[in-house]
Amino acid sequence: MKGFAAAFLVWALVSPQGGGEAWPAHTACRDGNLEVLYQSCDPLQDFGFSADQCSKQLKPNLNIRFGIVLREDIEELFLDVALFAKGSSILKFSYPVCEVDLPKFSFCGRKKGEQIYYAGPVNNPGFKIPVGEYQVLLELYNGDHSTVACANATVTCS
Ligand SMILES: *[C@@H]1O[C@H](CO)[C@@H](O)[C@H](O)[C@H]1NC(C)=O
Repeated sequence: MKGFAAAFLVWALVSPQGGGEAWPAHTACRDGNLEVLYQSCDPLQDFGFSADQCSKQLKPNLNIRFGIVLREDIEELFLDVALFAKGSSILKFSYPVCEVDLPKFSFCGRKKGEQIYYAGPVNNPGFKIPVGEYQVLLELYNGDHSTVACANATVTCS
């Protein structure tokens, strides 16, 4: 599984993009009741992401893997999340990932052009995902509001 994730990541990072075509959809996680698919919405690059646990009962300390080549410096990094169901917005929030005085992750402060690979826990509120299909838009941007990564995802919970 680890070998597979690493192979996938290398593939995702080097896969060339044909003119104006969308990036392929990747599986972030899948089990009997929950499936999370994502697609990069950054026209310039794809990235690798997966979650080690895939349960509708979301654990407060979820282990994830994330790999990307940085388009921008990330001394400051913010995540915007917007959640939609049936076309209606149901939740929006912004989360500081890296702040100058509060670098929460080992990769905070890395520079444009560097490749980062993070495998470890992320803190999130533990909750049960209600049955349904959700669309999620995620955007990572730095202190200059330059996009670092962008993804849209579909979460299907049965
Ligand atoms: C991302 O958005 C595009 C355009 O709306 C859509 O066709 C695609 O299915 C979405 N991908 C995922 C994984 O949700």
